[in-house]
Amino acid sequence: MTHRIAVIPGDGAGPEVVAEARKAVDALDLKVEWNELPWGSAYFHETGAMMPADAIDVARGHDAVLLGAVGDPSVPDHVSLWGLLLPLRQGLDLWANIRPARLLEGIPSPLAGAPAVDMLFVRENTEGEYSGVGGRAHVGFPHEVGVETAVFTREGVRRVVEHAFELAEGRSGRLTSATKSNASRYGYVLWDEVVEEVGGEHPDVEVDRALVDALAARMVSNPLSLDVVVASNLFGDVLTDIAAVLQGGMGMAASASLAPGSGTTAIFEPVHGSAPDIAGKGLANPFGAIWSASLMLDHLGESEAAARLMRALEAVCKDGPRTRDIGGEASTSEVGDAVAAHV
Ligand code: NAD
Ligand code: IPM
Ligand code: MN
Repeated sequence: MTHRIAVIPGDGAGPEVVAEARKAVDALDLKVEWNELPWGSAYFHETGAMMPADAIDVARGHDAVLLGAVGDPSVPDHVSLWGLLLPLRQGLDLWANIRPARLLEGIPSPLAGAPAVDMLFVRENTEGEYSGVGGRAHVGFPHEVGVETAVFTREGVRRVVEHAFELAEGRSGRLTSATKSNASRYGYVLWDEVVEEVGGEHPDVEVDRALVDALAARMVSNPLSLDVVVASNLFGDVLTDIAAVLQGGMGMAASASLAPGSGTTAIFEPVHGSAPDIAGKGLANPFGAIWSASLMLDHLGESEAAARLMRALEAVCKDGPRTRDIGGEASTSEVGDAVAAHV
């Protein structure tokens, strides 16, 4: 079966890392048809929109989407992200964002003693602080207001929490839920109640309810105490940048936006952004994008190929070449060539 994959290289370093992910997948000799979509900030300057009006249907017409990054200094971030990535995640109802954070052999750790970090983040991906509910009023007046409402629904929380419990069952049986239900009285209290309820259906999983501020500290002070972590959209976003650094840096981290249990087209993307400070220089680390491609192959039922790609990535992490951010001197494409050669 041929896999039809939509590629959205996007902006900045996005195209550079996606090219290496494609190269690595092509080396596997699977039947893959790539359909490159020119959506992003350049497309915005040409057309006035980040992507066409039928973008969700175009995405649905593929088996998966591989995305680089979105965001360019020439377009306000809320315009570019609410013009492309966020409507795709919401419009496809990709409610779970899965982000593995594992320190691979050969990658320098920022923590003393280089603890063998191995966490799995399950981030709610369509609601919470990212619901898009809010507005501005009295614009330009001293009493101008900006309202951003975090929306938590029982169903939205339940589905992602249930999925996290299932993933915890397949790992160590430990699940940490991140909230802020001391200061927030409504949404996160509902979240805690749902965790309690779903926990009753999974007595084999040990649940640990953490306040997000303390959890952020614990990720650095005692990362080995964490395995599967479930968090709201915003908390998951912030915590997974910390997690990325614990696994070597922003360029290392991979992610999958999914609607588990459905056949909906999923999006695979590195955790990092368009990295305007290093874009176009061949400095970007492609490991996060290549790892995301491995998650994609696994999702497409190509588990053997996904594992092969992951083994190749791990071999190159261990023996090099590596990019500058992780202590090497190689360029983005030299690293991609090495992974492809290992495959
Ligand atoms: P960023 O992740 O782009 O960069 C943060 C830091 O990490 C920078 O120093 C950058 O050089 C470094 N970095 C990022 N990716 C790297 C890689 N592959 N290899 C080596 N170093 C890497 O975050 P930012 O600077 O906050 O955001 C830049 C733009 O990207 C903004 O427009 C933002 O909205 C957007 N953004 C997009 C996505 C996405 O499309 N998924 C994610 C995050 C940020
Ligand atoms: C991520 C990114 C996005 C998010 C931004 C670019 C909207 O930071 O995927 O982590 O916050 O989800
Ligand atoms: Mn982020």
